[in-house]
Amino acid sequence: MSTPVMSGTRLAGIIGTGPWPGPAYDSLTAGISRAIGDGRIPVGARLPSEREVAAATGLSRTTTTRAFAKLREQGFVLTRRGSGSVVRLPDVPGGRIDHLLTPAGANEAEIDLTCTASVAPPWLLGAYERAVTQVHAYLPGTGYYPSGLPVLKELIAERYTARGVRTDPDQILITSGAFGAVSIAVRALNEGRGRVLIESPTYPNAIATLEGAGASLIPYPLELGAQGHHWDIDAMDHIARQTRVRSAYLIPDFHNPTGALLPEEQRPELGAMLRRNAMVPIFDESLVELGLDGDPTPTPMAAFVPDSITAGSTSKIFWGGLRVGWMRIPAHRIDSMASTRLSLDLGAPVLEQLVAVELMRDHETIVGEYREKLRAARDSLAAQVRAYLPTWQVIVPSGGMALWCRLPEDRSGALAIAAREHGLGLVAGPNFAPAGGLDRWIRLPYTVSETQLDEVGPRLAAAWEDALTYTDRVPAGRARTVA
Ligand SMILES: Cc1ncc(COP(=O)(O)O)c(C=O)c1O
Repeated sequence: MSTPVMSGTRLAGIIGTGPWPGPAYDSLTAGISRAIGDGRIPVGARLPSEREVAAATGLSRTTTTRAFAKLREQGFVLTRRGSGSVVRLPDVPGGRIDHLLTPAGANEAEIDLTCTASVAPPWLLGAYERAVTQVHAYLPGTGYYPSGLPVLKELIAERYTARGVRTDPDQILITSGAFGAVSIAVRALNEGRGRVLIESPTYPNAIATLEGAGASLIPYPLELGAQGHHWDIDAMDHIARQTRVRSAYLIPDFHNPTGALLPEEQRPELGAMLRRNAMVPIFDESLVELGLDGDPTPTPMAAFVPDSITAGSTSKIFWGGLRVGWMRIPAHRIDSMASTRLSLDLGAPVLEQLVAVELMRDHETIVGEYREKLRAARDSLAAQVRAYLPTWQVIVPSGGMALWCRLPEDRSGALAIAAREHGLGLVAGPNFAPAGGLDRWIRLPYTVSETQLDEVGPRLAAAWEDALTYTDRVPAGRARTVA
């Protein structure tokens, strides 16, 4: 059944009836493409005829014809004789998947579950447009802001203060994602060469960055109980005392990949243990805003460990393509962090920081809506895994972007290989292990579109069936993931 054609009046209700400044066809094109971009005109909708649009918007027929031609050229509309003009989204230039991540060549038909990252939300385009109108104020300067734009640092500092740890904007350094923050912190703290305690499992890029900076990793295995993974602080204390490790990289908030959350009542206890062992931890708060069950945003661990570094980011709440993150630094470490930062890069782009400012101002609305979307996706994926793969253990996390599932056998590497044949990209468990193992675990992000998500269960079940027939042990290999 084909979608009914949208009426001219309905379209005018969405994009307005003018005035149409500049060349009117340009304004009309921008109005329609913006409404498509932010979801007010859904993909798959059939637009009214050019004649109807002219009548509803008060524009001439020539103008609407030119606007439709431009929309077709930009990839927002596909016109076919007999089926009218159907709304679509332009292809992503260069493809969806970066060649660095899939050196063997990306399969565009694949459902990509290798990343915990979403496409840009509808708000993003508007935020870019508003940011462009502000950038002129910065043009008379050199554009170098190695610590970040003051307006953004203020907003971030205010949010920390509101969450329970007083923060001065000078304690904030804007970085290239949370990842840039972690790279700076580990180099500045140990000149890279010290020992760093790290959870197992953990975020794969953290393993690569810390090792790349010359650190030796001391794995701390998260405990597994009936409610999922959790932190045993006595056990961590024991490792810390034995190894006399002085630094740590920890993800206490909706931990990647397990989704585990360090409970509020354990936060002072973890803080005291780290202080007692004279450790300077790096807390990665990339996912902190993604609580999905209505609980308040967790108290920053910096409130319990004054001499700690916190990494944060806009990637998970807004869009990874902004590449805007930050670090929160104790005052006495600002100079050393700033010098290390200058040895790595000279600051984040001005425009993207202005976009981040725009989005931060609408933080509650944007994040609130995203949480709802993620909650539905989490529940749908968990239900599918239970239905299609009854032998797997699914623990539903209270936040984050992925399920971390326990397989009945050590076959995660085999599963990831088999999954490619069924159009599913996966990163096997061992990639999350700082010291090997974890072939019994698989991470399943629920960040893909609803349509794709509905296909995950059947594809996964087919891949698992194939993986069970592999007679040789399949080494998982190192898959690449950014998120
Ligand atoms: C725990 C954690 N830290 C850092 C990152 C990367 O964040 P960014 O894009 O801000 O560098 C991710 C992405 O998935 C993550 O899960």
